[in-house]
Amino acid sequence: MTAIPSPFYILAIESSCDDTAAAILNNDKLLANIVSSQSIHTKYGGVVPELASRAHQQNIVPVVNEALEMAKITKGQLNAVAYTQGPGLMGSLLVGASFAKGLANGLGIPIIPVHHMEAHVLAHLINDGRKLPEFPYLCLTVSGGHTQIIQVNNAFDLIILGQTQDDAAGEAFDKAARILQLPYPGGPSIDKLAKQGKPNRFVLPIPKAPAFDFSFSGLKTAFLYLVQNGTKTDADFIQNNRADLAATLQYTIVKYLMQKFMLASKETGINRMAIAGGVSANSELRNELLKLENQGKEVFIPPFAYCTDNAAMIGITAYLRMMNKNIDKPENKQLASARLPFGA
Ligand code: KG4
Ligand code: ZN
Repeated sequence: MTAIPSPFYILAIESSCDDTAAAILNNDKLLANIVSSQSIHTKYGGVVPELASRAHQQNIVPVVNEALEMAKITKGQLNAVAYTQGPGLMGSLLVGASFAKGLANGLGIPIIPVHHMEAHVLAHLINDGRKLPEFPYLCLTVSGGHTQIIQVNNAFDLIILGQTQDDAAGEAFDKAARILQLPYPGGPSIDKLAKQGKPNRFVLPIPKAPAFDFSFSGLKTAFLYLVQNGTKTDADFIQNNRADLAATLQYTIVKYLMQKFMLASKETGINRMAIAGGVSANSELRNELLKLENQGKEVFIPPFAYCTDNAAMIGITAYLRMMNKNIDKPENKQLASARLPFGA
């Protein structure tokens, strides 16, 4: 372990998809966490990569300045700059990576590339007064691009126990929302609507995948057929059943996620269970996880600010990496990588 002086200010930048985010940490303590979400994509029903990178270019300087102001420090006081190296949209990643590199070089301080999915998992270790998980813990990471069950042995030893073979859980929410003519991103709209619906009016099949893996593409197709068949006999099927359809979809996705997560807990004997990623903002998933406390599990549910994409998680990962690795040789790494493998 490398001893890190205090204060040690880290500026973290996240720009892998459609949120431009900056955070400031002093060691593992969060001082500022700013996110600028790009509304431009709503009218296209999904993220348009070229528009995302252009919006990042416009947002990055104001977002970083806002984070510095909130943390009450100047650029000159920064000790390191962390950024998301991948995975993500290449154009979006490059905006954050180039900015981070330029700033770090200009200030003569280290630059720390961070893996986006590892950061989602390690967001649980941000020191903000919450109870932090001890090791080992399991993390169900559910986002718009990934669905993984991770065994976290320590901050540097993360093992993927299982993952989706096709679509991500967030994609299933987003695609179903599109079928229901709900705005993008679909997850929050479905979550809200499902509260007024009956989850047992319709039935969707629980997908099949080996061991701790997932598959969501069949579920999306089953949902599409359910809606298409209903529309054959009732032209207003969607309007008349929107809340029940949303509730059914959410119930099925959450049940499936929980089944696999419980299986992983049983097989590994690890009873500390955490959730991460955008879909971990889902109210039903959070409720189901909370119920596990009655079954002797220790449950870790992140604040909403750490669920969807944010830079605080990039900052804490950089801090933890710094304690263990030589971060003065980032030139050994690619600046950014759209398909960065886990553990790279
Ligand atoms: O982690 P994230 O912000 O970005 C990625 O790295 O993908 O996750 C975004 C995903 C989207 O698919 C969005 O629909 C989903 O998280 N999401 C939700 C909720 N809030 C966001 N899904 C279900 N329920 C929610 N409340
Ligand atoms: Zn994410």
